[in-house]
Amino acid sequence: MIDIDKYFTPDLKKARKRTKNETEHGSFELEHKFEKLGIGKTYKIQTYGCQGNEADSETMAGILNNMGYTKTDAETEADIILINTCAIRENAENRIWGELGRLKPLKRKNPDLILGLCGCMAQEEKVVNRILEKYEHVDLVFGTHNIHLLPQYIEQAYFNKERVIEVFSEEGSIVENLPKVRAHQFKAWVNIMFGCDEFCTYCIVPYTRGKERSRRPDEIIQEVKELVEAGYQEVTLLGQNVNAYGKDFKDLDYTLGDLLMDLDKLGMPRIRFTTSHPHDIDDKTILAFKVCQSVMPHLHLPVQSGSNAVLKKMNRHYTKEHYLDVIEKLKQAKPDIALTTDIIVAFPTETEADFLETLDLVNRVNFEGAYTFIFSKRAGTPAATFEDNIPEVEKKERLKRLNKVVNDGYLRASTKYVGKTIKVLVDGTSKHDDRILAGYSEHNKLVNFKGSKTLIGQIVDVKVTIARTWFLIGEAVE
Ligand code: 5AD
Ligand code: SF4
Repeated sequence: MIDIDKYFTPDLKKARKRTKNETEHGSFELEHKFEKLGIGKTYKIQTYGCQGNEADSETMAGILNNMGYTKTDAETEADIILINTCAIRENAENRIWGELGRLKPLKRKNPDLILGLCGCMAQEEKVVNRILEKYEHVDLVFGTHNIHLLPQYIEQAYFNKERVIEVFSEEGSIVENLPKVRAHQFKAWVNIMFGCDEFCTYCIVPYTRGKERSRRPDEIIQEVKELVEAGYQEVTLLGQNVNAYGKDFKDLDYTLGDLLMDLDKLGMPRIRFTTSHPHDIDDKTILAFKVCQSVMPHLHLPVQSGSNAVLKKMNRHYTKEHYLDVIEKLKQAKPDIALTTDIIVAFPTETEADFLETLDLVNRVNFEGAYTFIFSKRAGTPAATFEDNIPEVEKKERLKRLNKVVNDGYLRASTKYVGKTIKVLVDGTSKHDDRILAGYSEHNKLVNFKGSKTLIGQIVDVKVTIARTWFLIGEAVE
């Protein structure tokens, strides 16, 4: 029999509650006793899901480095393996279950290995119960609110040889001063807020990431200043719903638009932000595209559906008409702005007529790209109880039809750049040929061109010669 009481396990109902508690702001400091714990030992972190998880993994790597651990890519050698998970759709979770099964033999070979699961899946009761019952080889489970406690968890798992399971359902405090090992040398993620209070009926995120909490502007400004000094070329401001930034400040009237205006003065060449919500986006943020040189002309603005009936059932708080108005305002502020989106097809009760509204919206906006998904039932969310009356073949057919329209949009957008000279931040070499450089344009298009590796990390002028659906090919302008 497993004694669940000795663990701190998650509770989705508790996670749904929004407390009136003021957000606590703390500062991370590594206790002296943890500083040498990892000397001579290695870790590997596997990250799934969104940029929020990528940023969290950078923090975990920073903490482990400060404890003396070193990173390894060889899982057979690792003393710690952390799986940072995503819960957004069922197939994301299935991948993780498969991965946990695959890693089991490693534990047999090296009983000292600490295998840990963290991220959004760890916040779900059904996941933690399944781990308790069937995945004995997982030693450590911690959630999204307590990453800063990683040193304690590792110490307990290592010295007591006991399973450590600690997941807080209520939102955590904002912890500053967390060490980070950034994955890129010239592009950085910067969290500006945590959590989401939108409660779209299909979405698990408000339960796994807690209520909206904004970082103080001075902390963000300081972080970006340091990144400028360190030679970074681009920052992406992160939050589940960045347009709600600052709404939780009781002493300050300060929104995302204000933050963009302040960050624009710091000399960071490129600023991006994600993810935006069409109902929260305000005029000052739209204005920032026009007046802030560093704010890049690309916006990812998830629409989810073009049908007002479906948007209502999704609890999105806007109509198709409102969305189109926002797009109009954005195009007025920045006529060449590149727009991308997320769309869910086959939401419960979506009719053919609803779906045609989505296709119509996609055509009208002229998106330059979109992530498209079939609705996936997430236990604990309201939509999981909605009658799912659409046959499986029909769901797949709608996704296929949508993707055709979306891909036509991608190619149309790519073609627009042929003959133009655009600025590309060079990320590295192409995966297929190391004589080819790869980077992203201001409009967030992937661009390949021939050039010297010394250009990596620089913003260079490239003349576009060929358009492909997913990327552009060009030549460096001497
Ligand atoms: N099913 C399908 N897609 C989903 N998304 C979020 N929740 C679900 C779900 N239950 C999509 C939304 C969101 C993106 C990150 O993932 O489109 O914008
Ligand atoms: Fe999920 Fe909606 Fe919040 Fe985005 S805005 S994280 S889709 S609940």
